[in-house]
Amino acid sequence: MSAFSALESTVAMAAWKIELDDGRTYVGDESQTLLESARAAGHGLPFGCGHGACRTCGARLLSGRVAMAAGSSLTSEQAGGGFLLLCVAYPRSDLRLEVGEQMGLLPVLPWTE
Ligand code: FES
Repeated sequence: MSAFSALESTVAMAAWKIELDDGRTYVGDESQTLLESARAAGHGLPFGCGHGACRTCGARLLSGRVAMAAGSSLTSEQAGGGFLLLCVAYPRSDLRLEVGEQMGLLPVLPWTE
């Protein structure tokens, strides 16, 4: 075991409570996207490309802090309005999210593999 992996095994990953506006909750950590941790908890949420291009996984941040991977398809106005993409967003605190009602406000973009 290297010194680095030994250090990794002794550092606890912060776990954050994720609360959806429909009442569902799950636990996320900074190593998984909000979409990955939702799916791991058995919550079905809409998604498409899985890498920030299509906006199918759009949500709005009601409270808390997230880190978004660079290069998503959100405009600066959308991001400034609290929108995020669950497939490229990582929790940095407990969160409350609005999901599922964003399609009219955050148009989905066509995408192909
Ligand atoms: S699944 Fe396509 S942007 Fe998230």
